[in-house]
Amino acid sequence: MNEYTDMTEYYDALMTSGYYEYDTIAKSLIAILQGRKKILELGVGTGLVAEKLLHHNPDFQLTGIDFTAAMLVKAKERLGHKARLYEQDVTTLALADRFDAAFGNGGVWGFVNTGEAYVLVSHLTDRQDNIKGLRRVADHLNEKGLFIMSVQGVHQNFERQLPNNILYSQEISEAGDYIEKDYIFKKEGKVVAKHRNRFRLFRGQAIQDLMKEGGFEFQYIDADDRFQVYQKK
Ligand SMILES: C[S@@+](CC[C@H](N)C(=O)[O-])C[C@H]1O[C@@H](n2cnc3c(N)ncnc32)[C@H](O)[C@@H]1O
Repeated sequence: MNEYTDMTEYYDALMTSGYYEYDTIAKSLIAILQGRKKILELGVGTGLVAEKLLHHNPDFQLTGIDFTAAMLVKAKERLGHKARLYEQDVTTLALADRFDAAFGNGGVWGFVNTGEAYVLVSHLTDRQDNIKGLRRVADHLNEKGLFIMSVQGVHQNFERQLPNNILYSQEISEAGDYIEKDYIFKKEGKVVAKHRNRFRLFRGQAIQDLMKEGGFEFQYIDADDRFQVYQKK
């Protein structure tokens, strides 16, 4: 299971170091949401996207889920009572509410644009778990609800200096339908946190087959190439 517990302490420093451009991400999302207010964030992490969404529009009724308790602690510190947060795994998602849209920014599902094609990258390595998760999401959406997944550049090996003398490096290895990503944080040459994620990759027709089985239909990719938009069938 890809929990982020080991590196939660350093995650925020990495994510706010320019890894993701949260303000731009939030603006793109707002354009896609077109006035929809009841929103579910999948893999809310430490609440960085939610914070920006609420900054631009405090009227959003945001709910975030994540299965890593330590990430939710940070999200709670960041968002206070402005969002509802639940420790849940998307494959068994069970909330009393229904939403106008669900989105994820590298949370559970996201796309990578290789320049030649879009590859779906999933935190869920088993295909059947992906179907289960997608169906749970669909069940939590109102009729014609949107399902919005982020688009990123290709995962690459790199190093970056973070505040407090922390050096971050990531190492990627790809084999067939899987990709492994090592996140390594070092201070004065010593590893202070390390985390390995394994992702499942879906390509071409396999993406549409998965989405269809999960209960979704492709709509469009936004003009900024930041999100792919699906709709509940
Ligand atoms: C790369 S982080 C992205 C966090 C956040 N969306 C952001 O932009 O900073 C992925 C998050 O998805 C969560 N996650 C992964 N698989 C999950 C699952 N099956 N159910 C719930 N959360 C999951 C992880 O715990 C992690 O917090």
